[in-house]
Amino acid sequence: MEVSTESVEQKSRNASDPEDDKCSDNDFEPSILGTKEYWEEAYQRELETFTDIGDVGEIWFGEESMSRVLRWMDKAKIPENASILDIGTGNGAFLVELAKHGYRNLIGIDYSPASVELSRNVLKAEDLTDVPVKEMDFLNCQGELKGFDICIDKGTFDAISLNPDDSTDCKTLYVQTLKDALKDKGFFVITSCNWTKQQLLDRFIEGFEYVQELPTPSFQFGGKTGNSVTALIFKRVH
Ligand SMILES: C[S@@+](CC[C@H](N)C(=O)[O-])C[C@H]1O[C@@H](n2cnc3c(N)ncnc32)[C@H](O)[C@@H]1O
Repeated sequence: MEVSTESVEQKSRNASDPEDDKCSDNDFEPSILGTKEYWEEAYQRELETFTDIGDVGEIWFGEESMSRVLRWMDKAKIPENASILDIGTGNGAFLVELAKHGYRNLIGIDYSPASVELSRNVLKAEDLTDVPVKEMDFLNCQGELKGFDICIDKGTFDAISLNPDDSTDCKTLYVQTLKDALKDKGFFVITSCNWTKQQLLDRFIEGFEYVQELPTPSFQFGGKTGNSVTALIFKRVH
């Protein structure tokens, strides 16, 4: 089954439009968004666009999704030398924002070679060539990811959860890899549009302590209030 380019490119580009902080069920096609091929094609296109016109492409869940994390980092007094891993960095836009905010011990990983090339080019255009981006599958990192103060995930656990083959195993492996990657008392910052707060609390329970929820835009429907995007902070505990 084919997914139109439109459904992907419409999402989350501009946070000033409340619609852009939204990620409906229709935007996600489990059998496609959970595959490496899908992301490789998507970032190949974005790479071409960046080369042609300098547009970095999609900002998943909008600019505000980065600002709210940076505000939390300020409040939590995360030091500028904290080691920070951006899991599934995509176009590297979050790395750029973190570096501009003063963070200098950053690394991004992504399993899509085109994403890695794009994010390196995006960082280079901002004179941030000292921020490394590695081609790496988070679920098969051979113990290379260790000792981080902070792991950030914006949309990657969502994508991994949509793996058509074995999403249950992938989710379990994700949690284990994350545990290994974080220092004791390190923070995990997740932004998701696939999972509710409760589902994330249930998933990241063993080895993690819930810290707080970051406020995200809410909507009302049928007298009930809900959030289209969930942003949570967890702390690694042993
Ligand atoms: C929804 S996009 C989000 C990209 C980026 N975090 C952002 O906010 O723009 C999901 C990203 O996760 C990456 N990804 C998915 N599964 C991965 C895995 N197992 N290892 C590394 N990266 C993965 C994809 O290549 C893609 O860049």
